[in-house]
Amino acid sequence: MIHKKYVLLLVAAILVASLAVTGCSKKAPILKAADKHGLVFGTAITAGDIFDPEMKEFITSHFNLVVPENTMKWVNIRPTKQFWNWSDLDKMVDFAEENDIIIKGHPLIWDEQTPGFVNSVKTKEAALEIIVEHITEIMTRYKGRIQMYDVVNEPFAEDGSMLDSFWYRTCGTEFIDVAFRTAREIDPDAKLIMNEFNNEFAGHPKSDGMYEFVKGMVERGVPIDGIGIQMHIMAESYFDAEALQANIKRYADLGLSVYFSEIDVRIKNPVTGDNEAQQVAAYRGLMEAALANENAKHFVVWGFADSRSWVPRAFSGYGSAHLFENDVEPRNPKAAFKEIETVLKNWKN
Ligand code: G3I
Repeated sequence: MIHKKYVLLLVAAILVASLAVTGCSKKAPILKAADKHGLVFGTAITAGDIFDPEMKEFITSHFNLVVPENTMKWVNIRPTKQFWNWSDLDKMVDFAEENDIIIKGHPLIWDEQTPGFVNSVKTKEAALEIIVEHITEIMTRYKGRIQMYDVVNEPFAEDGSMLDSFWYRTCGTEFIDVAFRTAREIDPDAKLIMNEFNNEFAGHPKSDGMYEFVKGMVERGVPIDGIGIQMHIMAESYFDAEALQANIKRYADLGLSVYFSEIDVRIKNPVTGDNEAQQVAAYRGLMEAALANENAKHFVVWGFADSRSWVPRAFSGYGSAHLFENDVEPRNPKAAFKEIETVLKNWKN
């Protein structure tokens, strides 16, 4: 006969194992409030994050979406034409699935971070073929498991025309239609997004150029579900809530979603009371805009900690752009974090 003590031990072990499998972490107040309002609250993550139990716990307790910051870029996932480096992305997708959080694929087609074999393609036919191959390979592998994709990333120039990219030079705008049509065909349930930066405000040439192009896609039946507004913005710039609202509304009128997809609000060094207050106001304005618009309930930050930010490398003299000071404990939530948490908690639908 099995001793009672062993039965109890066995039950306890099964409980612990099933908690680990279902990733039953305790939700932080900000995530509970986001869930209550149907807000997607996400962050970019690195491949290393999901090897660290404490980091996994932090991510799953604070966010309901993750997006690989760099793992799915061509140089990383497909450094040569035939070699696919799946292991990190596989683990990220497993992690998201086990913890019942959304994972966004970023990016399928982009002009940056492309390996040499792409840039050596010479003809339109060959370039379109490689686009179809790339999208088909990734989206077939993760069909039903990656829920949304930045199908085309950053195709516009600052004046609203098409960026002089490898893809545009080689294929004209056809590369965009082909990418979206292929993506829809492979996984009809995945949300398909065109992602861009400096496209926040209606009335700005890039925002308007993008809007006109996307409207054209809708009119000619190219499948697209929404646009990403990355929101890499500066604290000291005037935050034009009205122009942002007008931009969101015109996409709603097209039946499309707007995703705040890579939020960070950088501060010109040094941090002062004044520029921190501007940063807090910008984060607040973005959270309010996301909550106020049914087609924009998506607030994703591009990393959560100043300690490992891409910002100081890209913008000399700027930093402190994120919601936490550190990526490890003590993470020290900043005033902007507390502000958006308060907005979320007090928001009345
Ligand atoms: O991992 C290598 C390391 O081995 C090497 O020693 C080091 C030397 O430079 O480089 C490391 O790779 C860097 C990688 O970030 C990881 O830190 C790349 O050089 C660097 O170019 C890369 O920058 C990324 C950038 O996109 C370009 O891919 C940033 O982390 C990432 O935050 C940034 O994200 C983009 C979005 O994808 C699209 N929207 C704009 C956004 C900000 O630029």
